[in-house]
Amino acid sequence: MRAAVTPVYGPPDVLELRDVPKPALRERDVLIEVHASPVNAADHRLRSADFPSFSAVIGRLIIGLRRPRHAVQGTMFAGRVVAVGRAVTRYAVGDDVFGSADHGTYAEYLAVSEDGPMARLPQNLSYGEAAALPYGAVTAMHFLRDLRPGEKLLVLGASGGVGRFAVQLGKHRGAEVTAVCSAATFDLVRGLGADHVLDYATATPDGRYDAIFDVAGVSTYPRARALLTSTGRYMTLLLSVAVLVQMLVTSLRRGPKARFAIAFGDREQMEEIRDLAERGVLRPVIARTFPLARIAEAHAAREHGAVIVEIVSSELRRAERGGVMEGSLRRREILSLEIANGAAIDRRQIRDVAAAHPEVQELCAPQRREVSHIG
Ligand SMILES: NC(=O)c1ccc[n+]([C@@H]2O[C@H](COP(=O)([O-])OP(=O)(O)OC[C@H]3O[C@@H](n4cnc5c(N)ncnc54)[C@H](OP(=O)(O)O)[C@@H]3O)[C@@H](O)[C@H]2O)c1
Repeated sequence: MRAAVTPVYGPPDVLELRDVPKPALRERDVLIEVHASPVNAADHRLRSADFPSFSAVIGRLIIGLRRPRHAVQGTMFAGRVVAVGRAVTRYAVGDDVFGSADHGTYAEYLAVSEDGPMARLPQNLSYGEAAALPYGAVTAMHFLRDLRPGEKLLVLGASGGVGRFAVQLGKHRGAEVTAVCSAATFDLVRGLGADHVLDYATATPDGRYDAIFDVAGVSTYPRARALLTSTGRYMTLLLSVAVLVQMLVTSLRRGPKARFAIAFGDREQMEEIRDLAERGVLRPVIARTFPLARIAEAHAAREHGAVIVEIVSSELRRAERGGVMEGSLRRREILSLEIANGAAIDRRQIRDVAAAHPEVQELCAPQRREVSHIG
């Protein structure tokens, strides 16, 4: 399969397109044909191993000391299930899904556990839009879970990958949201629901806040403390020795708290995100889309909105919907893939395709015979 490989750490042009083996499927795994995967700040960090000083050693121990432990990077996806392991019960071939993975989404196929952070695609979103959800939504949800109606939330870095979701979730939870961002992104951030916007180049927040979410890593707990209510929370996404000490100290005494965490999504959270997206509460903002062949450009792009890498072309999908013959040929490819992976095949689905399109029965029949060998 085609994949973007990161052989060494470095700038965007270290990314290379290569043919790599398709991932093997374990019995609780689903094989996903990846349609879209975003490039976000965390992906830049994984590609360049550019960690803040304190976390550099820990970061490299986790992702690979000298070179990336996983050559195929990419951590968020949306796509279609094309094969399922023998013990899979939640998903069937043909389901459209989105979610996150440790690595491997910059490739045509991805194998992930059915129990992992994944859910069915929101009905109102494209693959690209759904792929843009998990990164910011999971993180914002993790940090803002205890935000209560009427509280005042200050978001530092509101126009970024996490900030855009923090603003939307803050409003959804009934908070009054003040967004700090560049003047160029005022309209974008207001459009997401922010009550007040402040240009970080010219304005300094004042007043009192129940929660300060420092997404951009531009403040510190000691500086933020003067703006916090007595039960206020300062939340940062950046790990430092100072914040670990502040977390410990503030947890032992009354008054405002400092918080750092690494947000990992799970299945329930993805389902909640899908529900919020379908209700229009969470809205991804897509800035640009690049084909897989131009992934280095996607990594070099700096946009106010998600940058999406389209891995399996939507053109192919449109052709599939529009033309039975192209669709059936594609279906045949998928079935061959399932067989090659030794996965359980959803026989009902094959029957449904054949029944709906009599002209493809011939194509499905040989596959059905092969299926019986491995069943
Ligand atoms: N701990 C975790 O679980 C976790 C999860 C996700 C991300 N992260 C980390 O969190 C960080 C932010 O992620 P992100 O995806 O939101 O980054 P991002 O998309 O680059 O957004 C950062 C935003 O901050 C704005 N900004 C720059 N200077 C600012 C200032 N002085 N005051 C206020 N805003 C300012 C930028 O606006 P302009 O572009 O307009 O200047 C940009 O929109 C990254 O380091 C990422 O690795 C951690």
